[in-house]
Amino acid sequence: MKNPEIEKRIKDLLEKMTLEEKVGQLHQAGGSIVGAFELSFEEVLTMVQDGRMTEEEAHKMISAAELDWHEDDLRAGRIGSYLGLVGSEKMNRLQRIAVEESRLGIPLINGFDVIHGFRTIAPIPLAESCAWEPELWQRTARMSAEEATAAGVHMTFSPMVDVSKDPRWGRIAESAGEDALLNGLFGEAKVKGYQTDDLTRHDALAACVKHFAAYGAAEGGRDYNRVDMSPQRFEEEYLPSYERAVKAGARAVMPAFNDISGMPCSVNKKLLTDILRKRWGFDGMTISDANAIAECINHGIAADRRDAARQALNAGMDMDMTSGCFLDHVKELVEAGKVSMDKLDEAVSNILRLKFELGLFDDPYRSSAEQEKAAMLTPAHRALAREAAQKSMVLLKNDGLLPLKQGIRIGLAGTLASNGDEMCGTWAGAVQPGDCKSLRDGLDAEQIRYSMVTEELLPECDVFLCAVGERKAESGEASSRASLELTEADKTLLNRLKESGRPVVAIVFAGRPLCLGPAVECADAILMAWHPGAEAGPAILDLLFGRVNPSAKLTASFPEATGQCPTMYYDHIRTGRPAGKFKYTSKYLDAPVEPLFPFGFGLSYTSYQYSDIFAVQTEKGIHAEITVQNTGDVDGDEIVQCYFRDPVAQRVRPIRKLAAFEKVTLQPGESKRIAFDIPKEALGYYDQDMNFVIDDGLIEIHIGGSVRDTLQANVEYHNS
Ligand code: GLC
Repeated sequence: MKNPEIEKRIKDLLEKMTLEEKVGQLHQAGGSIVGAFELSFEEVLTMVQDGRMTEEEAHKMISAAELDWHEDDLRAGRIGSYLGLVGSEKMNRLQRIAVEESRLGIPLINGFDVIHGFRTIAPIPLAESCAWEPELWQRTARMSAEEATAAGVHMTFSPMVDVSKDPRWGRIAESAGEDALLNGLFGEAKVKGYQTDDLTRHDALAACVKHFAAYGAAEGGRDYNRVDMSPQRFEEEYLPSYERAVKAGARAVMPAFNDISGMPCSVNKKLLTDILRKRWGFDGMTISDANAIAECINHGIAADRRDAARQALNAGMDMDMTSGCFLDHVKELVEAGKVSMDKLDEAVSNILRLKFELGLFDDPYRSSAEQEKAAMLTPAHRALAREAAQKSMVLLKNDGLLPLKQGIRIGLAGTLASNGDEMCGTWAGAVQPGDCKSLRDGLDAEQIRYSMVTEELLPECDVFLCAVGERKAESGEASSRASLELTEADKTLLNRLKESGRPVVAIVFAGRPLCLGPAVECADAILMAWHPGAEAGPAILDLLFGRVNPSAKLTASFPEATGQCPTMYYDHIRTGRPAGKFKYTSKYLDAPVEPLFPFGFGLSYTSYQYSDIFAVQTEKGIHAEITVQNTGDVDGDEIVQCYFRDPVAQRVRPIRKLAAFEKVTLQPGESKRIAFDIPKEALGYYDQDMNFVIDDGLIEIHIGGSVRDTLQANVEYHNS
């Protein structure tokens, strides 16, 4: 619902703006690096992307170098927004130029990637999604917003809600995994946490939903690669997570780098106008991905930068992130009638609207050096990061070794056990060395005795804690992998420890599912720690010593072999020859078709029993119930998952689809009756002619502790 007073202010301002000033509002600038050599932000990006520079080198150079924020352009009204600017004093200084030295005093909006924390880093999104707890996701988003806004940031390029079914794709780390419902709920919670219900608050952070759309379906799991799928699958499996996040009130949307069946998102009118604005009623701002408009030339859809600018603006793109195509060409495109003044005014209005909604016109200067310092890494934020990490790490194996007893002698192995800076994972642009605590830091803080395993020495100990997996630079953007195997060094270390005959706990740090067969073989227990953020060490020890009972469950399937990707996701279809013993069925000669660890799987220190499943049609859909009992001797939180299947339909349907879930706390011996109400729309899908249909007939309801471990009830559904 638009605010009439803001709409009037936009209209009045538009009437005063020159064509150049309107074009200036469409341009988001990055800082250029001055000093040793003149390099723009995007040139650094390109150097990192084509491997001429590592991310670490780029980060070190950018953070150390004095950046040129193009102040003369700002004064001349040629910049509407910044990317990558951090620091309240720096932001206020540049904002003062925009507001007090430009002709119309239009304030800047400052965008930054606050993906899972700012200085207090929470677990990577893929990890945090394994908590299956929207209320937690909202709280960590709020924490991020408090820190980022104190550092002069107005908008974050988050939440990312790209359904990711292929762990070869490095950006699965930034997602809520392979399921549409979970990604949608994750995005919704993050939008609410960032924005609150009052965007004018100094600690409100505008949310930007990305990457619109279906970026996670890149062919071969190779980043930036083509996306090609049926319109039915696009509507059923990929659009819903963006729609839920947009309808949660996100004030910005970022189109993805990829094409969708041949039409790049940055110039995709069907996506940016027909779906986003007309169907969903979105009235916020669209902002391209970095340099993405210019890259439409590489796609082969634009002849040159001018053509790319024309197509993007006419498709519904409002702001250009750092390519400069809009700044360089929109004026002449309007003068030549290739872009209408109305279309330009629409884009400028969407940008001005967000600046008015954030209160930047009336209240442009935010925070201060003191407020900024006080906001970071507070005890409350660290406590929340620790809670989130406890709830995100998944216990994948436990042959009775865990929980460990106090006083046990520990042998610590693996370089990742001692490196706190590796714990932040991908997209932690503002983190400082030392912000994140390693497993070893955790042991030191608790004065727990341990000996280090070295190349030569296997120390005397009762148990080995063995850290394996990925470094943060191997995860995230432009980090696709053709093999998900553990490194040879990790495998050798695991075997060496196993041969010692003493028990081994494998602690896996990674931004994606990996092939953990060697860990299953060599370790008596496996904790999937992901990249768990600021409080990695303390949270791991909370779980290993049983101070907290593990409750997390996987939101992405773990392959046994890389070759199973991307087909081992949980909501696949059966085919005419579902995998079976008979040769001529859909399977591999050299690997199983089922994942090593399935969607929804995670162990606890207690056990749960499910009974008395029941399901019935109601006016609104299907009502289902089940009883869960804690049959062990410690309290636990169980994530009860409710799936359905439509076994005979007008198009083949997934063998399971997550419809709902509930996290329930149970004391030892306690039982609870859990109820789910599945809206009938959730049962629907698109037929061959793209009609949305809900079938009459049998619907199977499957409820349990993972997708592979459920009870079943059937409902004869009559679509009244
Ligand atoms: C990157 C990413 C996007 C990020 C943007 C700004 O290339 O694709 O997720 O928000 O650039 O850093």
